[in-house]
Amino acid sequence: MGEGDKEAPQGAGHGGGREARPLPEHVPVLLQEAIEYLNVRRGGTYIDATVGLGGHSYEIAKRLGAPGHLIGLDKDPAALREAGFRLSASGNEDWPRVTLLNRSFAEIGALANDQRPTTDDGFADGILADIGVSSMQLSDAARGFSFQAEGPLDMRMDPGSERTAEQVVNHLGERELADVIYEFGEERRSRRIARAICRSRPIRSTTHLAEIISAAARPMNQAERRIHPATKTFQALRIFVNRELDDLKALLQAAPRILKPGGRVVVISFHSLEDRIVKDAFKEEGILDKHFRVLTKKPVTASEEESIRNPRARSAKLRAAERL
Ligand SMILES: C[S@@+](CC[C@H](N)C(=O)[O-])C[C@H]1O[C@@H](n2cnc3c(N)ncnc32)[C@H](O)[C@@H]1O
Repeated sequence: MGEGDKEAPQGAGHGGGREARPLPEHVPVLLQEAIEYLNVRRGGTYIDATVGLGGHSYEIAKRLGAPGHLIGLDKDPAALREAGFRLSASGNEDWPRVTLLNRSFAEIGALANDQRPTTDDGFADGILADIGVSSMQLSDAARGFSFQAEGPLDMRMDPGSERTAEQVVNHLGERELADVIYEFGEERRSRRIARAICRSRPIRSTTHLAEIISAAARPMNQAERRIHPATKTFQALRIFVNRELDDLKALLQAAPRILKPGGRVVVISFHSLEDRIVKDAFKEEGILDKHFRVLTKKPVTASEEESIRNPRARSAKLRAAERL
């Protein structure tokens, strides 16, 4: 294990024992569906590639029991701290071994080498990836993910990584910036927005950036009127800063080496760019085609009841496949 990695503490978590401090409010998306598609079996080894606040992991851990092993990854050490607390055994004797790794899931291939250096057969029974930002990251103004609260232009999930949103916004050339906003935000007004950003530099805060975008990009139709004008640009910057799409491709590419035959990969995504990568990986000639059987012909989406209870679930799409 590297720096920041840890075994979940034997403290007062949720693992069946007393709760010593309140955990942040957190509602995992498509929880039952993810658990069902993962087919969690007692005694198995499962990887939660985006452990976040440990919501999905907790349900997996309960089903694994003492003979099982849960490996949780997150780029964000703050998320891992919360997950560590939620996932600690806390006196529950039927609790699995929990290993939390402060790493990107793009490095999951290296994890395979650590676990099974000599064979091509995988070691895990399932991988879950619930990608994107967590509610904790979004609601912390100091992380700079939200245009609704004043904060620095940071947007890094891994605070140790080099590129911040402030660097991108203030140093990229106008054309390159427009391309980023168009490619990762699917924003048709990208050129106008990039021009306004370049003219207003330096930009230091989330709300300042949101004001500039709002002034530059008047909604062109009814659909655009329904969302804040800065939504797509903020999405684009976040994806670019965190190299989210490249990470997702790397994870899918490594899945065949990680999973045992019969093992499952389950991905929950929140926007069309991510979902397209997963869909393409699963289809004929895709990177997983020869190794996997697709379990979800169409993506699984949240029920109306879940969408009302948790508006974040509205855009979630779950796809799953089984290693042959
Ligand atoms: C939507 S949240 C996961 C929530 C989690 N399923 C739960 O129930 O608590 C996504 C998490 O994935 C993490 N993440 C995003 N990209 C990552 C990557 N490439 N590697 C590791 N963690 C990543 C984020 O830091 C965030 O904590």
